[in-house]
Amino acid sequence: MFFATALPSILLFSTRPWLAAANGRDQQPPAPSPENTIYNDQNIRYVATVVVGGQSINVTLDTGSTDMWLNPRGGVGTFEDTRVPHKIAYADGNSYINGTIGLMQVSLAGHVVPKQAFVNVTENVNEDQCGHGVCGLIGLGFDNPDGGIEKALSDAGQDGPKIGKSLLSNIFDMNPDKGRFFALSLSRLDDSQDSAPATLHIADYDPRYASVQYEPMRPVFPSNKTTWDILSNGFTVNGYHLPLTANPENGAPPGQIIVGLDSGSPGVHTRPEIRDAIYSQIPGAVLAKNSSIPVRTWRKDEDVWVVPCNASVELTLDFGSNSYPVHPLDLTTMYTVTKDGVERTICTNTITNGGSIGGNPKGKDLLFGDPFLRNVYTVYSFGNSTTPPFAQFLPLTNASEAAKDFTSIRNKLLADGPPRA
Ligand SMILES: *[C@@H]1O[C@H](CO)[C@@H](O)[C@H](O)[C@H]1NC(C)=O
Ligand SMILES: *[C@@H]1O[C@H](CO)[C@@H](O)[C@H](O)[C@H]1NC(C)=O
Ligand SMILES: *[C@@H]1O[C@H](CO)[C@@H](O)[C@H](O)[C@H]1NC(C)=O
Ligand SMILES: *[C@@H]1O[C@H](CO)[C@@H](O)[C@H](O)[C@H]1NC(C)=O
Ligand SMILES: *[C@@H]1O[C@H](CO)[C@@H](O)[C@H](O)[C@H]1NC(C)=O
Ligand SMILES: *[C@@H]1O[C@H](CO)[C@@H](O)[C@H](O)[C@H]1NC(C)=O
Ligand SMILES: *[C@@H]1O[C@H](CO)[C@@H](O)[C@H](O)[C@H]1NC(C)=O
Ligand SMILES: *[C@@H]1O[C@H](CO)[C@@H](O)[C@H](O)[C@H]1NC(C)=O
Repeated sequence: MFFATALPSILLFSTRPWLAAANGRDQQPPAPSPENTIYNDQNIRYVATVVVGGQSINVTLDTGSTDMWLNPRGGVGTFEDTRVPHKIAYADGNSYINGTIGLMQVSLAGHVVPKQAFVNVTENVNEDQCGHGVCGLIGLGFDNPDGGIEKALSDAGQDGPKIGKSLLSNIFDMNPDKGRFFALSLSRLDDSQDSAPATLHIADYDPRYASVQYEPMRPVFPSNKTTWDILSNGFTVNGYHLPLTANPENGAPPGQIIVGLDSGSPGVHTRPEIRDAIYSQIPGAVLAKNSSIPVRTWRKDEDVWVVPCNASVELTLDFGSNSYPVHPLDLTTMYTVTKDGVERTICTNTITNGGSIGGNPKGKDLLFGDPFLRNVYTVYSFGNSTTPPFAQFLPLTNASEAAKDFTSIRNKLLADGPPRA
C-alpha cells in the first residue's frame, strides 16, 4: 500500500447525471447487492464496511498486504488480546501502525468469522485514523507463515498459521465447497459512469462482470509468491511499445516484467524513465524537477509532471496478447492548490517514480495500483491443488469512448473550477 502522506485540497464534484452510461458497460446492470458494494473515497481508497463486535468500521481494501488492523475512534471494545505486539510499515516505512494482535468476531460481505486476528492499533503514524471515516485496513493478500501477523504469533510461541490467518482465508475455510478467490471492481469518480458501484465479491462474481471467468488466467509469478505479482509486457503509449527491462534478479522471462496488483495504491509506480516516456508524450506537459507541488500519489522523488488538464495520451497496459486501455482520467489527477491566497486548478501525473519498489529483493519491477485497476474487473484466485494462483482481467475501458468522456468531462470541470495554474 502506498498512500501519499500529505493530501492537498481536492476538488470534489458530485455525481454527473448529464452523461448517461456512455460505453455500454453497465446498461441496465443487474444491481450488485448492498453487502458487496464498496465505497470509493476520492479515487484514493476503496473502502468496505466490516462489523466488529457490533460496530461498523470502514476499512481500506488492500490487495498489496495481508494483515488486518483496526483503529476506530472509540476502540473496538472487548476482544481476546494475545498481547503479541505487531508493527506494520507501509510505503517506504514512513507510515506505520503498531499495537497488539487481538482475536475477535469480524463480518465482511455477509461472512461472519468468529475469531479473526487483527492488530488493535495503539500507535498510528500517517495511516487512516478515521480521516474520511476510514479507520482501518484489511489485506487481501496471501497467508504467509514467514511474515505478518502469522509470523509474529509464531515467534511469540503461539500457533500463527492457525490463529493468525487472514480474513479471506478464514472465510474460504468456512466455505470449503466454494472457490478460493475474490473479485474487485473499482469505480472511477467523475467519469461518465460515476455512479457505477465498486464491488467486492468473495468466491463469487459481480453479476455485471461474470464473464471474467472466461478471460485468460494470468499466473502469479513465480508460482510460490505470496503477493499478487504477475507477468506483464509493459506499456504502449500512442501505439509505441515502451521497451522495458526487468530486474534480472527477479527472473522474468525475456520481454516481460513482474508487476504487483495493489488496490491499496492510488498510483502506478514505475521507474522515472518510464514515467517520463509516458508523460512527455502529452502536449504541453512539463516536468517540474524537485518541486514543492503537493501531489496525491506516493512517489520516491519530488519530480512532478504538470499536465494541461484537457490533454492526455493513449496508454495501454499489456499482458500476453491482450492490451488493456487506461482511461485518460486515470493518468492525471485534477485538484486545487492554493498559493498566495489564490486557488488554482492543477493536473499532475498518477504514474510516479516507485523508487525501490522495482529493486531487489522486492521481486517485482512495477506496481499497478488503482489507475490501472479501475480499468479492469479483476479476479484474484488463490489457486487449489491443481491450479496455481492467478489473476483474470475483464477490460472495462473502451479507448475511443474514454477519450471522448475525458474531453467532455475535463472541459466541464475546467469551466466550473478555479482558473488553471
Ligand atoms: C462508511 O462510509 C460510508 C460511505 O462514505 C458512510 O456512509 C458510512 O457512514 C461510514 N460508516 C462509518 C461507520 O463510518
Ligand atoms: C486497543 O486500542 C485502543 C486504541 O485504539 C486502546 O485504547 C486499547 O487500550 C487497546 N486495547 C488493548 C487491550 O490493548
Ligand atoms: C509496538 O507497541 C508495543 C506495545 O503495544 C511495544 O511493546 C513495542 O515496542 C512497539 N513496537 C515498535 C516497533 O514500536
Ligand atoms: C520460490 O521458488 C524458487 C525456486 O524454486 C526459490 O528460489 C524461492 O526461494 C522460492 N520463493 C519462496 C518465497 O518460497
Ligand atoms: C530539492 O530542493 C530542496 C529545497 O529546495 C533542497 O534542499 C534539496 O537539496 C533538493 N534536492 C535535490 C535532489 O536536488
Ligand atoms: C486545452 O485547452 C486549451 C485552452 O483552452 C486549448 O488551447 C487547447 O487546445 C486544449 N487542448 C486540447 C487537447 O483540447
Ligand atoms: C481448481 O481451480 C480451477 C480454476 O479456478 C478450477 O477450474 C478447478 O475446478 C479447481 N479444482 C478443484 C479440485 O477445486
Ligand atoms: C469501442 O466503442 C466504439 C464506439 O462505441 C465501438 O465501435 C468499438 O467497437 C468499441 N471497441 C471495443 C474494443 O469494444
